[in-house]
Amino acid sequence: MTNAQIPEDGPPSEMQADLETITSLAKRRGFVFPSAEIYGGFAAAYDYGPLGVELKRNIRDRWWRAMVQERDDVVGLEAAIITNPAVWVASGHVAEFTDPLVECLSCQGRFRADHVEANTCPNCGTVGKFSEPRKFNMMLSTIVGPVADESGRAFMRPETAQGMFVNFDNVQTTTRKRLPFGVAQIGKSFRNEITVKQFIFRTREFEQMEMEYFCHPATSLETHAYWKKERLRWYYSLGIRPQHLRLRDHRPDELSHYSKATADIEVHYPWGWGEVEGIAHRGAYDLTQHATHSGKRLTYFDPDTNEHLVPHVVEPAAGVDRIMLTLMLEAYEEQHLDGGDSRVVMHFAPAIAPVTVAILPLSRKDTLEPTARRIWEMLRPTFRTQYDDAQSIGRRYRRQDEIGTPLCVTVDFETLTDDAVTIRERDTMAQIRVPIAGLIGALQGRLAALEPRVPSLDEIEV
Ligand code: GAP
Repeated sequence: MTNAQIPEDGPPSEMQADLETITSLAKRRGFVFPSAEIYGGFAAAYDYGPLGVELKRNIRDRWWRAMVQERDDVVGLEAAIITNPAVWVASGHVAEFTDPLVECLSCQGRFRADHVEANTCPNCGTVGKFSEPRKFNMMLSTIVGPVADESGRAFMRPETAQGMFVNFDNVQTTTRKRLPFGVAQIGKSFRNEITVKQFIFRTREFEQMEMEYFCHPATSLETHAYWKKERLRWYYSLGIRPQHLRLRDHRPDELSHYSKATADIEVHYPWGWGEVEGIAHRGAYDLTQHATHSGKRLTYFDPDTNEHLVPHVVEPAAGVDRIMLTLMLEAYEEQHLDGGDSRVVMHFAPAIAPVTVAILPLSRKDTLEPTARRIWEMLRPTFRTQYDDAQSIGRRYRRQDEIGTPLCVTVDFETLTDDAVTIRERDTMAQIRVPIAGLIGALQGRLAALEPRVPSLDEIEV
């Protein structure tokens, strides 16, 4: 399995959906709503609906399992969103977390300089009349406490990463972890992005999944190479096709002064390649900065060599919302069926599908309902279920296809006499009859068979 040969422009995207299609499906089916829509919404803010929260939760769970629970070298952390502002001075965010901002001298619209194409104002179309770029700090701030003056100024964290650095000593002493070890966190981050576009791809409030992997400086480059493969593998495991993924190593002129190597995992979106995750080699920068600014020693004592050292850090950093958008674009297919019919199918991998099994009584007649509800109760502890008895069975299958439910269980009048039900598969529309007594096992078997194959690390060439 390789993506090394993918050219700069990438292959033609096989993603069928454009952003508009996904935005509309997301709203129609309760994945994502414009925030506070009854008040006209709020720029680039979104509220996640009943299916969206399930999808996001599944993404987080998959990440947490792979990065923390299934490993013995990574532990978790939840740090405060609003913390001591000194953290952001030490990290360099107060001075350097900026984007270049230009102003159109004709309409006064403000834009990120590198988002302006062909020197043309995206708002009024005027060509070549922009101010000189100036540095715009992207941290959002607030006033903490009852006194509304600058002494209470604090920042909404622009990344979760600093929580791991400032807690390095706490985590190391309480867990007694030896190098290499990682600290992982999932949580909201905030950035006052100048340009927000592409739905939930770039917003001002978003959720990150970051892990700081502390290692010996001598092994840091091979550690970085390992995490590039491991993280790419995780995206394959979610069902993203290899031709839509690539690893792009940063050029030397893109690297921060302290970084020996950084790579982005990029997705081939309908609008081109875009970053979904960064894997940065941060060297000893962050621990050194916090040690200098706090006056505390942030080193590791190596019992094998009897030396104190500042570990180096490799950081895989991903965005939950961006992964969710990627999975929705990847999953979408509009199929034209025999007889002029068509259907929209979201081919979510079972592990991330908001609903894994829908229970559908063939008719609403009283005679079927108690049996169907009893089956629903039996399945609820094991699967993410939905019970639907409204409208024709054909329309209900289409509804489940459109939200990506891999399996439907149909309860019909024969069920009352043969104690069996029909399992209908989303992707093939194939139907099989199974006894209720073996239903849980049969559904588990079908779901496992539908999961994408996860390649071994050796199979991944980067
Ligand atoms: N600690 C390193 C760090 O924060 P980053 O590349 O700025 O690195 C990591 O962010 C990931 O967070 C990105 O790859 C992206 O998935 C997500 N992300 C960053 N800014 C975002 C935004 N404005 N909206 C949505 N997701 C964002």
